[in-house]
Amino acid sequence: MLDQLALRAELSDHYDLAPSTDIAAATADIYARMDRVVTPPDWAIHAPYVAAINTLKKERNAVILAHNYMTPEIYHGIADVVGDSLQLAVEATQVEGDVIVQCGVHFMAETSKILNSSKTVLIPDMAAGCSLAESITAEGIAEMRAKYPGAPVVTYVNTTAEVKAASDICCTSSNAAQIVRAMDSETVIMTPDKYLAQNVARQVPEKRIVWWDGSCIVHEQYTARDLHEFREWNPGTRIIAHPECPPDVVDAADFSGSTGGIIDYVTREQPEKAMLVTECSMASNIADALPGVDFVGPCNMCPYMKKITLEKVLWSLHTMQGAVEVDPAIADRARVAVQRMIDLSARLNS
Ligand code: 13P
Ligand code: SF4
Repeated sequence: MLDQLALRAELSDHYDLAPSTDIAAATADIYARMDRVVTPPDWAIHAPYVAAINTLKKERNAVILAHNYMTPEIYHGIADVVGDSLQLAVEATQVEGDVIVQCGVHFMAETSKILNSSKTVLIPDMAAGCSLAESITAEGIAEMRAKYPGAPVVTYVNTTAEVKAASDICCTSSNAAQIVRAMDSETVIMTPDKYLAQNVARQVPEKRIVWWDGSCIVHEQYTARDLHEFREWNPGTRIIAHPECPPDVVDAADFSGSTGGIIDYVTREQPEKAMLVTECSMASNIADALPGVDFVGPCNMCPYMKKITLEKVLWSLHTMQGAVEVDPAIADRARVAVQRMIDLSARLNS
């Protein structure tokens, strides 16, 4: 666990991180990307960190990959690449710098390390986990194989390297249905997200899909009733749900897609009012680019994603601590499953 006080003491010895209206003014171009959702006093707090990170990033020849659930000051302030899980995995294969800083959760950093093993991959907080990744081990995969002999195992990227290594192919929320459809078997095992599997089962009725009993603590909280009630009280709202939500929630929505798919949909459709049934930062990150869209309704926070802060990013780049390592033998097998997904997905979408 990070010692927050020691971290702060170390950083204040090397950087002037006091709130600064001067640095805020000097970084006004960056602030303009998020001024609908971040107040000027908050920007004066963030700006010294953003400036220090962007300078240090160059010195370390580092690239920051940030998931769509990062807060706006990370997403717009310091990220070199933003995206959903699939987009970040593909980008990780192409990084030429020496260091990748993964602003996301641990399985994402592991995936980057698996795909680009010569790089130093830093995660600013090792405790940034994921309820799905924690729900299954390689033994769980073996259990499913024993129960459904011969069925291929399609594993969500939200898993550890060991679990990926024990699987046949990975998927993300943006390509799950395509990957399952392409499996040469009537029965397909999907792990570990039961709701993603149930949502895919509706899209691919020709397959018998069996699943592991995992779920995302952010998306499982939504209920179809919440959505119906919200729609009743707020007519005209376009409701967009992530496929980690239960199937009746997805049914109650107008569209369902990966975080990247949700951004594309809202950008294309530009509804007057939109409710994003997913993590809270999603709406914040696209609010400035879409001034005509009013983002309404409740959202849920991912406590794991929110462990990543500007302060911890600066600390990891400063100390170069928080390097993610994957046993090479496991990485080799996990790489096969992830690369199969990337290649199949590219082929199916070309
Ligand atoms: P996306 O692949 O849609 O970005 O979802 C990943 C995820 O689970 C983040 O929690
Ligand atoms: Fe995991 Fe859910 Fe958080 Fe994504 S939102 S990292 S699936 S717990």
